[in-house]
Amino acid sequence: MASFPALMFFLLFTTFLNSGCESGKVLVYPVDGSHWTNMIKILEVLHSKGHQITIFRSSNSWYISESSPYYTSITIPQEKPQNVESQTYMTTFLRKTLEDRQYQGTLWGLFEFYRNFFNLIQGNQQVVANLAASIIENKTLVKELNQTKYDVFLTDPVFPAGVLLAHHLKLPLVLNVRWILGGDAHYPIAPSPLSYIPVLFSHNTDKMSFFQRVKNVFCKGMLVYLYYYISNPPYQALCDRYFEHNVNVMSLMQGADLWLMRTDFTFDFPRPTMPNIIYIGGFQCKPANPLPADLEDFMQSSGEHGVILMTLGTLLSDLGPKVSEIFAAAFANLPQKVLWRHIGEIPATLGSNTMLVKWLPQNDILGHPKTRLFVTHGGTNGLYEAIFQGVPILGIPLIFDQHDNLVRMEAHGVAEIIDITTMDVQSLTNSLKDLLDPTKPYKLNMIKLSRIYRDQPIKPMDKAVFWIEFVMRHKGAGHLRTESYQLPWYAYQCLDVMAVFGAVGLFIFTFIWISCRCMFRCLTRMKKSKVE
Ligand SMILES: *[C@@H]1O[C@H](CO)[C@@H](O)[C@H](O)[C@H]1NC(C)=O
Ligand SMILES: *[C@@H]1O[C@H](CO)[C@@H](O)[C@H](O)[C@H]1NC(C)=O
Repeated sequence: MASFPALMFFLLFTTFLNSGCESGKVLVYPVDGSHWTNMIKILEVLHSKGHQITIFRSSNSWYISESSPYYTSITIPQEKPQNVESQTYMTTFLRKTLEDRQYQGTLWGLFEFYRNFFNLIQGNQQVVANLAASIIENKTLVKELNQTKYDVFLTDPVFPAGVLLAHHLKLPLVLNVRWILGGDAHYPIAPSPLSYIPVLFSHNTDKMSFFQRVKNVFCKGMLVYLYYYISNPPYQALCDRYFEHNVNVMSLMQGADLWLMRTDFTFDFPRPTMPNIIYIGGFQCKPANPLPADLEDFMQSSGEHGVILMTLGTLLSDLGPKVSEIFAAAFANLPQKVLWRHIGEIPATLGSNTMLVKWLPQNDILGHPKTRLFVTHGGTNGLYEAIFQGVPILGIPLIFDQHDNLVRMEAHGVAEIIDITTMDVQSLTNSLKDLLDPTKPYKLNMIKLSRIYRDQPIKPMDKAVFWIEFVMRHKGAGHLRTESYQLPWYAYQCLDVMAVFGAVGLFIFTFIWISCRCMFRCLTRMKKSKVE
């Protein structure tokens, strides 16, 4: 009996010791909007492991709240909101993108598409760069941060202020990433041949015809332009002002310790990778929880036909009355019930089988056995949930990478894509019926994909947390980083070596050629003199 208190003490002591040893300080520079919704999931888990988390946010943050049980925040004053923090800007951007689709396939359409996108990025990069500058300029803040002795800097580098701050504070850098400022995050570190790796906005798969490869190279060219002339300049100005010679934001990014890549090969096409890339695509997926009673009743009332779930994201819920009428009329044609996340006026053609809601627990509904189909705009968060829960997809791509994401799903045989600007009730009904047809392979393909996705030795979230803690324990992960990023481009491609080989080859060839010519001339001269 006497040993009981001793045992308790021992247990308490070891718990204390463990948490004392392993808990660390994490500094985070997140990106607002849908990028934040998955960054916060990682922060919640890091917090539950006893780590102290501090995040940067701007005074105009849209999704990122100032106070939270999971972190303390540092709010940086910002005069005007970033484009991606502004609902008005994003709504206008969406309208413009959809309007421009009428010129699809023409040179003008292409020009307008890229102009619209470049404008959004340009405005945003400048504001984010100013934000980074105002942090670096604030000597009191930098001193405080420096004295706090953080163990790791975690950031999403699509707007790379965090990358600059990590360099300034000399902290090990972990990226939670899918995109960087010039396209797919693999490009700066892993070999990415354009022959089988589709580029953002190309809508290609990994099997490309000659003309699709032409398109791929063209799209890559546009991204290179985006990087050098639009994204990079505001950050280069900061690097030149505050950092040593020869530093640029790309080289800082390439020097990151670890890339937590938000993709998975049940989603993306297979491609070359690197030792410091850890794949965590779909890390936010969880088994479904039971539904609230009213939703559960609705699901059960669908009988054998089941339920269609329709949601087009937070920002994009209201696409105007015309589009809503088409959806409502097409849904009314079906024997299934429909659960539709809808903000805006109630459509006149709404059928009795359709229920409109302002908010819904998406993952729990996708995981419900009655759910038959997911109608989505193709944001990756939703697509991974659909893969995880095994629900086929009707994709209605709107902006950004959504079309390219859905092309991947289509290539896996689990989705169809429909264009919101050209669809009518008939074409939409046909696509819905097609996807719901039990003789078609969509559902089976998705279940297969789901089984593969779930069959991993370590859950993606555990992997993410393990590797962040790994970097904290070892003060970096430099041993996983290839030397490629230190090389100038001609050395990376070995062009200098090839040039030397070429020169030597040319020299030998010329030497032999000249010798042969001389010999030939001597011989003919000798013959001539003999004849004479
Ligand atoms: C600099 O940071 C300190 C401490 O975080 C803050 O109190 C102060 O308002 C900041 N100054 C400026 C000019 O933003
Ligand atoms: C942080 O503090 C160290 C000394 O502890 C100093 O050498 C370094 O310059 C400081 N860094 C910044 C960015 O202020």
